[in-house]
Amino acid sequence: MPAIVLVGAQWGDEGKGKATDVLGSRVDHVVKYNGGNNAGHTVVVGDEKYALHLLPSGILTPGCTPVIGNGVVVDLSVLFEEIEGLSARGVDCSRLVVSASAHLITPYHRTLDKVTERFLGSRRIGTTGRGIGPAYADKINRVGLRVQDLFDEKILQQKVEGALEGKNQLLVKVYNRRAITADEVVDELLSYADRLAPMVADTGLVLTRALDAGKTVVFEGGQATLLDVDHGTYPFVTSSNATAGGACTGSGVPPNRIDRVVAVVKAYTTRVGEGPFPTELTDEVGEGLRRAGGEFGTTTGRPRRTGWYDALVARYSARVNGVTDFVLTKLDVLTGYERIPVCVAYEVDGVRHDEMPMTQTDFHHAVPVYEELPGWSEDLSGVRRFEDLPRAAREYVLRLEELSGARISAIGVGPDREEIVVRHDLLEG
Ligand code: GDP
Ligand code: IMO
Ligand code: MG
Repeated sequence: MPAIVLVGAQWGDEGKGKATDVLGSRVDHVVKYNGGNNAGHTVVVGDEKYALHLLPSGILTPGCTPVIGNGVVVDLSVLFEEIEGLSARGVDCSRLVVSASAHLITPYHRTLDKVTERFLGSRRIGTTGRGIGPAYADKINRVGLRVQDLFDEKILQQKVEGALEGKNQLLVKVYNRRAITADEVVDELLSYADRLAPMVADTGLVLTRALDAGKTVVFEGGQATLLDVDHGTYPFVTSSNATAGGACTGSGVPPNRIDRVVAVVKAYTTRVGEGPFPTELTDEVGEGLRRAGGEFGTTTGRPRRTGWYDALVARYSARVNGVTDFVLTKLDVLTGYERIPVCVAYEVDGVRHDEMPMTQTDFHHAVPVYEELPGWSEDLSGVRRFEDLPRAAREYVLRLEELSGARISAIGVGPDREEIVVRHDLLEG
């Protein structure tokens, strides 16, 4: 029984939540290993639509144990709000396990996220404003607060006081904000301690034991490859490792336990926030894709930037993540185009690039080289077998497969759990 990492291949919102949900009842544990409530996963089950931020998508599968790994940054107010919201709709959240070593997002992280963005002005990242960057910065600076600190009041007080010393200087003197007292932070955090206690565990140990017992574990990446702090379009990235390597550091499960890496890739491209995007369409064609695909952020409601499929991005993702299978989503959204351009290379200052350029300067200057594929006009949402797709849609998939560096094992033809065409079993390989 395998350990599978599931990641986003582009700039996020590829449909990772749905892909995890589709694996469904055969999965024993779903682990979130990076990011926090900057993520937004929409999962549609029949008439019900769920928007998940901090909780792993596995929460929707009865019998599956959702795990928040050590690599996640946890905003406790969001955690309990989400648990309450789902419980009220009849979703059982009682199996949730939270790592004792996960870091906490506090009110001062949220404040700092917003004020630094405002001060960056035109150089802003376009963050989700959830305090993600500042919480990870504290982790790396070794002044972060962790879940386990809630159970040692003396240490918690000391750590909060230490963290606030520098931050209050910054908030008051640079950003003209009010100082935050250690007591208000400690009181808020402690108000969650009793409810959190039964969920807290050594999640690395829990997961290793589960794998030893032959269970199936899915590691669900938040964000995506090009938003990865090391491998993405830095500085227009998030502050964690969203790529497959992050599944190990963010969960405590070693690399030699991972069997498969599934990357979710959209049949076109979207991006939220600032940063380079070579195939972006800023005209009415892009507007059409946004409308057809419902491309508005699950977390912030911002309109997503849209563009054609970029095979260099997919190929880069295949390489960086060690992708064994792609799940191609939203093929249905491309219905109705006479011809569909696909980016097969870039031109940078007159030089052709067949791989991601080495520097961000070149990437900012990349001009897409397009190949045009014939489109189709049939509705795809009822199709369940690859052979039943219109010929042009099949050829589109096969061409992307050829260009993207790994096989396309499943194809999304609609938002619902059932709306998928499976070519190869993602769990069995
Ligand atoms: P995630 O962050 O990667 O989980 O993706 P999001 O949930 O933010 O965005 C993906 C959106 O596309 C959601 O609204 C899904 O319901 C929807 N979706 C997923 N797969 C498909 C598909 O194959 N076709 C269509 N039309 N919608 C899909
Ligand atoms: P899912 O998991 C799309 C983007 C933000 C911003 C940058 C940094 O739903 O795919 P942050 O708040 O993380 O410091 O913002 O990253 N971003 C996402 N874009 N999908 C996401 O998550 C994202 N999470 C962060 O828009 O550009
Ligand atoms: Mg999303």
